[in-house]
Amino acid sequence: MIRNIKGTKDLLPNDTPKWRFIESSIHNFMNTYGYGEIRTPVFESTDLFIRGIGNDTDIVSKEMYSWLDQGNKSLTLRPELTAPVVRAYIQHNLQSLGPITKLYYLDSLFRRERPQAGRQRQFHQYGIEAIGSEFPEQDAEVIEIAYNIYKMFNIKNLEVRINTIGSSSIREKYLQILKKSLSKYKSYLSPISQKRLDNNALRIFDSKNENDQQIVEENAPFIFDYITEEDLKHFSLLKTILDKMKIPYFHDKKLVRGLDYYTRTTFEITSNQLGAQDALCGGGRYDKLINQLGGKNTPAIGFAAGIERLLMLIDDETFINNDIKTIYVSILGEKIIADAMKIVKTLREIKNLNIIIETNRRSLKAQMREANRQNVFYVLIIGEDEINKKNVLIKNMKNSNQDEIKIKNLKSHLNNLINNA
Ligand code: HAM
Repeated sequence: MIRNIKGTKDLLPNDTPKWRFIESSIHNFMNTYGYGEIRTPVFESTDLFIRGIGNDTDIVSKEMYSWLDQGNKSLTLRPELTAPVVRAYIQHNLQSLGPITKLYYLDSLFRRERPQAGRQRQFHQYGIEAIGSEFPEQDAEVIEIAYNIYKMFNIKNLEVRINTIGSSSIREKYLQILKKSLSKYKSYLSPISQKRLDNNALRIFDSKNENDQQIVEENAPFIFDYITEEDLKHFSLLKTILDKMKIPYFHDKKLVRGLDYYTRTTFEITSNQLGAQDALCGGGRYDKLINQLGGKNTPAIGFAAGIERLLMLIDDETFINNDIKTIYVSILGEKIIADAMKIVKTLREIKNLNIIIETNRRSLKAQMREANRQNVFYVLIIGEDEINKKNVLIKNMKNSNQDEIKIKNLKSHLNNLINNA
């Protein structure tokens, strides 16, 4: 038997209503903040991610699905969406429409990580990219959006962690200091961290090796202690705005994030109810990326959030219960099938009504079992006796009451039942 690939999931009819509810809530939410949707291709030039995310990051060094196509071009299934969105922004000259471009997305991504609860190889994110503003009020809006979406879904016990890793001008100096303070322990570091110490020392913070983590914890200076005065001013105003907006946060000096494009503000929202993979979302400023990918020097900030992790925390009660809007039509007797289908066709005109019909000629008992399995509120029974009397039966599955209704009154009866419920 051929099975799905490890780390991917089929979403079956029991799952998809929840996904549709989340997706439509997010589309509506983003519209209320004036963000426009962008959809980019599932695969891109491998080069985009190497240049955008950075060669020494976990994503680029070991998690990308890349291949050479028949024309010998290296392609990659997108492992994140910031670089593709920036590519599209530059390519379609979106800055010509105005100095600030606010975009959002909701799409699937691919990373070859070790699958576990909340971590898949094909997963989904929603996120935003606000391109054009260098000011801390833009950072505050982005963090507010990330936070308020969880509030909309009634998620509790959130922790917002923020930090600043300073502008790019301080990076080189800090990396030298970091290298110096860790080089004494180089031989104790894991092979990958040893390599990172030489090539891109900031990425040592991403190590999942406990020994590396301890060495970093005890010896690495905080980048926050080397930021410029302007960086500090930016960060302080961001904190003031968040305080005024009553968005609770914690300044975590260790938060550097695992992608190379960040400058200044970084943030993550975590939940203590998620287990090991506790990051609900993450983001930050990337003031150099647009220029680095061939566009004009343009500041930007964004975040992305995992939908699978959000789903793990949403209460069933948050999902809308549609049961009352669905009826099951039980058809009994070969002779009346055509008449029954004709009746159902007229019912399809009723707004908001979902109708599941019997197409397998099962016994009444089996059809009732099916109706129960589908969790419907009402069953319409159309049999030979009923048709002869120009009637149908409506059974309320919750209290087992049964009414006989004239076929000519059926449409208005159902309309009232469903749309006044
Ligand atoms: P990221 O931290 O790599 O950032 O991913 C953001 C979120 O995606 C994570 O917090 C997590 O909820 C979810 N996620 C990541 N990997 C997986 C996985 N394997 N399975 C399930 N969920 C996962 C970015 O992707 C940046 N592009 C965010 C950003 C946007 N920064 C600026 N703009």
